[in-house]
Amino acid sequence: MSGKLVIIGTGPGNPDQTTPQARDAIAAGEQFFGYGPYLDRLSLRPDQRRMPSDNREEISRARAALDAASKGASVCVVSGGDPGVFAMAAAICEAIETGPETWRRLELVVLPGVTAMLAVAARAGAPLGHDFCAISLSDNLKPWELIERRLRAVSEAGLVIALYNPISGARPWQLATAFKILRESLPVTTPVIFGRAVGRPDEDFVVVPLGEADQQRADMATCVIIGSAETRIIDRPGMDPLVYSPRGAGL
Ligand SMILES: C[S@@+](CC[C@H](N)C(=O)[O-])C[C@H]1O[C@@H](n2cnc3c(N)ncnc32)[C@H](O)[C@@H]1O
Repeated sequence: MSGKLVIIGTGPGNPDQTTPQARDAIAAGEQFFGYGPYLDRLSLRPDQRRMPSDNREEISRARAALDAASKGASVCVVSGGDPGVFAMAAAICEAIETGPETWRRLELVVLPGVTAMLAVAARAGAPLGHDFCAISLSDNLKPWELIERRLRAVSEAGLVIALYNPISGARPWQLATAFKILRESLPVTTPVIFGRAVGRPDEDFVVVPLGEADQQRADMATCVIIGSAETRIIDRPGMDPLVYSPRGAGL
């Protein structure tokens, strides 16, 4: 019996932003492993099995999915956004590296998806039009000191920064500290975009200057994009402003 494991991302939440490739993989899957709310985004047939788990259980979920595939099932592992950005594809690789030899022989496919920062950037205009980076503010899997060092380095280097996992009940102060660090090297006028649940019915979207950026505007469903010194705002009557980073810098 030869199983298959496909790792997909649903996109940021709007079904139109799930790729046709991911949709085909969902139609072909037999068992679906993922965080419950992500599995809820799928319309599965009665013959397709849901295997939901908590969002902190990534490695045990990865092992369970690999085990099911190695027993012959056609397995689909589901992330939100893109499966390789702060998501399950890396957890599956970690599990394979430390797991039994048989897992290395499995047919494994990672399908790209629309990651949150791209949906937020598109909503804003083109803030990622020049060099940028993505940082998760979660200190569950790395020390906070490392996050502070990275924030200082990338803001001094002039990169636009997309912050994932900006805040949660267990991590209430990190975003305010990140803004404080960024104000040390960036002008207070630098645009900060708070894109919450972008593409979903409960979307919220606001652009404020760094000097007024308040962590209360963010929650777990928010991706925060902080511009560089080059990032510009074009005001438009009766509409959200356009935020963009020109294609060139330092010329
Ligand atoms: C664990 S990460 C998963 C990222 C996902 N794999 C991706 O590529 O978008 C969860 C974080 O993604 C961001 N996020 C996910 N969906 C979002 C959306 N629709 N709008 C804004 N941010 C979103 C938030 O920062 C959230 O805390």
